[in-house]
Amino acid sequence: MNTVIQKETSEHYLAVHEILITSFKSDAESKLVTALREKSMAVLSLVALQNGKVVGHVLFTEVTTSPLSKAQGLGLAPLAVKSEYQKQGIGAQLVQEGLRLCTGLGYDYIVLLGDPEYYQRFGFKRASGFGLQNEYGVDEPFMIIKLTDCDIQNAMIHYCQEFSLFSV
Ligand SMILES: CC(C)(COP(=O)(O)OP(=O)(O)OC[C@H]1O[C@@H](n2cnc3c(N)ncnc32)[C@H](O)[C@@H]1OP(=O)(O)O)[C@@H](O)C(=O)NCCC(=O)NCCS
Repeated sequence: MNTVIQKETSEHYLAVHEILITSFKSDAESKLVTALREKSMAVLSLVALQNGKVVGHVLFTEVTTSPLSKAQGLGLAPLAVKSEYQKQGIGAQLVQEGLRLCTGLGYDYIVLLGDPEYYQRFGFKRASGFGLQNEYGVDEPFMIIKLTDCDIQNAMIHYCQEFSLFSV
């Protein structure tokens, strides 16, 4: 089945909400996405469509560092594919198109918290290897991919305020 990846519009919100609610253990990710839209914090929000039906979604927001860095980064979160459409490469298409578009927007790196086994195939590496920390107290799942030859190391990465829903 042909999958089309395109930028999310308001017509997709309800379908994305349903995917998020069914893909994650709680409604936190759905609430997060709603809050990010309300505050216009999404730099890039993509949907995967099959026959015009939303089957997947990924979103990118800006992150900041302390100490401040010249390198401009994004956080990838959340990523979800409707359960009956998983394992067909739709997640990979969303990630790869996201990486391509974020590179085009001039960003230097992307971080995420996720399963290393899944994300390393796209080139994500353990962020602690660059001396990067996160506010969630996790090591291995915190990953980075550099999109440019930027100098990003030895810093704390901060997601935007809306992510405080997930604070430890
Ligand atoms: C994580 C998630 C987004 C992956 O989406 P997906 O569309 O299934 O991802 P892909 O199809 O790209 O890859 C998944 C697996 O299917 C395999 N696959 C990819 N294309 C395939 C195809 N055409 N046929 C069979 N298998 C395929 C991949 O090799 C991969 O194998 P793995 O399980 O060994 O890693 C999805 O499982 C999901 O929504 N999970 C719930 C929410 C979640 O946990 N999100 C991630 C938070 S970090």
